[in-house]
Amino acid sequence: METLTLLSPHFRRFNSPFPLLSLIRRSMSIKSHLTMASYKKTDSDEIPIAGTDNAFMGFITGKKKATEVAHSVWKSIIQKGDTVIDATCGNGYDTLALLTMVSDESYNGCVFGMDIQQEALDNTSSLLEISVDENKRKLVKLFKLCHSKLEDIVQETPVRLVAFNLGYLPGGDKTILTSPRTTLAALHAACKVLQSGGLISVMVYIGHPGGRDELEAVQGFASDLPVEAWTSIEFEMLNRPTAPVLVLIFKK
Ligand SMILES: C[S@@+](CC[C@H](N)C(=O)[O-])C[C@H]1O[C@@H](n2cnc3c(N)ncnc32)[C@H](O)[C@@H]1O
Repeated sequence: METLTLLSPHFRRFNSPFPLLSLIRRSMSIKSHLTMASYKKTDSDEIPIAGTDNAFMGFITGKKKATEVAHSVWKSIIQKGDTVIDATCGNGYDTLALLTMVSDESYNGCVFGMDIQQEALDNTSSLLEISVDENKRKLVKLFKLCHSKLEDIVQETPVRLVAFNLGYLPGGDKTILTSPRTTLAALHAACKVLQSGGLISVMVYIGHPGGRDELEAVQGFASDLPVEAWTSIEFEMLNRPTAPVLVLIFKK
């Protein structure tokens, strides 16, 4: 057993602690100790956190971005063969990361990818084409569809993770971007399709007009979830006010 001492960025918890997140919360106090036990990846209350310590420390020390923290947490939650959703494909980086996490040697696992722009889906397909073999690519199903309709594509399949990376397509049309109304509808839908032990991950960009309103909508949604069934937390850098904010919503 190994003990780390962590220093604090801003860390906000919406409701009651889930053990992993509780560990993180405690780690974010001015100076406290995080005990790293050897966790097994199971559906029980044992929480896999190996690797996340690196991402969190990198985030705290300014060497890693919130997206890297998000990917690290996804990796701890996702199991091989899982079904997950990328609710905002964009240029496909998150889709590719999710595919790597769900796929096993027998090509099990599934990533449903959604975006309202054909350009985003084309960029995602191109990235997958140069990054993974054809059999793996077949595990990704792309839909030109608003994420508020995500229930229509997954039907009865239990979903381990739904990832949102809000805002506009980098390198694309900045006037086409996510909006609080459809984001909230998608979050409600995500809650319904998510299996127990699953995660909704929302990266909110607040540097563009409307970004703060969208953050407030996500915060309001996450804050209102009943503590018996959900844990909602937020990572926000206090001294870089336009830095993206990561909201994580875990289904107990
Ligand atoms: C910040 S980008 C996503 C970045 C992406 N995850 C990546 O790894 O490159 C946001 C994307 O959300 C898409 N989007 C906007 N509104 C949407 C909606 N209602 N449903 C699905 N996607 C939407 C945009 O077209 C844009 O491609």
